[in-house]
Amino acid sequence: MNILAIESSCDETACAIVKDGVQILGSAVASSTAMHEKYGGIVPEVAAREQLKCIIPVITEALEQSKLTFDSIDSLAVTVGPGLIGSLLIGVETAKTIALTKRLPIIPVNHVLAHMYANFLNPQHIQFPAISLVVSGGHTELFLMTSAKNLTWLGGTLDDAAGEAFDKTARLLGFGSRGGVAIQQAASQLTDLRFKIKDLGIKLPRPMMHDKTLNFSFSGLKTAILREVNKLKESNQLNTETINRFAYEVQEAITDVLVSKTVDAVKLYDAKSILVSGGVAANLRLREKFHTTLKTLNPNLSLHIPSVSLCTDNAAYIASYAFFRGIPVDWKDITAVPDLSVEDV
Ligand code: KG4
Ligand code: ZN
Repeated sequence: MNILAIESSCDETACAIVKDGVQILGSAVASSTAMHEKYGGIVPEVAAREQLKCIIPVITEALEQSKLTFDSIDSLAVTVGPGLIGSLLIGVETAKTIALTKRLPIIPVNHVLAHMYANFLNPQHIQFPAISLVVSGGHTELFLMTSAKNLTWLGGTLDDAAGEAFDKTARLLGFGSRGGVAIQQAASQLTDLRFKIKDLGIKLPRPMMHDKTLNFSFSGLKTAILREVNKLKESNQLNTETINRFAYEVQEAITDVLVSKTVDAVKLYDAKSILVSGGVAANLRLREKFHTTLKTLNPNLSLHIPSVSLCTDNAAYIASYAFFRGIPVDWKDITAVPDLSVEDV
């Protein structure tokens, strides 16, 4: 079954064609992230205008890559939420138009739930029950998967997402918006082994790491980061070296909490696999920590983290989700839902 999926929830415009939920036949992504740099964050109006410009080119490119025409597409899938209304509408209305003109079924998709299906692309042996951590720019959520179709939401962030903590720190330190990668790069400059964590001179909290719930909270961390950055600024100590140390500690604090909570869930549900996904799953330190933790936890446990390009927003996982969990609806019944819930799965 060939599914053509469209993704336009935020500042990426994407289209992919995926066979049987696992094989990517074509995938194209356009991003307006760089355009938002000078504003210090995503500007919804700018993002929506870029979606409009890019939507037809990405569909054309994905089809060209796949060497297919619409005649070989069995179903459409489209992200309906959560996301920015202006951005979502471009993808949703485009998909509806194709559904109407090509007489194709259309599957509405929840973007956050779909992220975890990046782990189903390129066939993998996922054993159930699995614990799935989704860490994106706006979400930090844990799910229990008892099959490729059955999901239960276990917990999530009570305030900010891990991605937001990365992005806000990046802005404070003078890197642009969507700064997770910049924080990772700055942290990796800290190769001087004299600076073990305790010597950094900066110690940040690991919020809710030891509480009994499977929820997260990153807003306190954000406040602590702001306080520490201001201290460094006031004492004229904010320089490349301290920025790198700071980035290192921020990355340690966020990744410590993410790994620890996921391990709690694995123990609680006696899970056989861990799935990690979302933009923050691209973080190399997070990937490394999951690998080392796994070795000590249980050698039989399998860890699944998509390639970096499949962690950040694209349409391939939208198609995969649609294949494994999607329910086709009439095009007239599809609408964009910016605040679509991730708890009610
Ligand atoms: O999933 P995603 O592409 O978009 C949303 O659905 O939000 O996630 C974007 C988030 C941003 O917060 C970005 O800074 C973060 O993922 N991110 C990273 C890395 N690459 C992207 N965070 C930490 N380290 C990275 N290497
Ligand atoms: Zn995303």
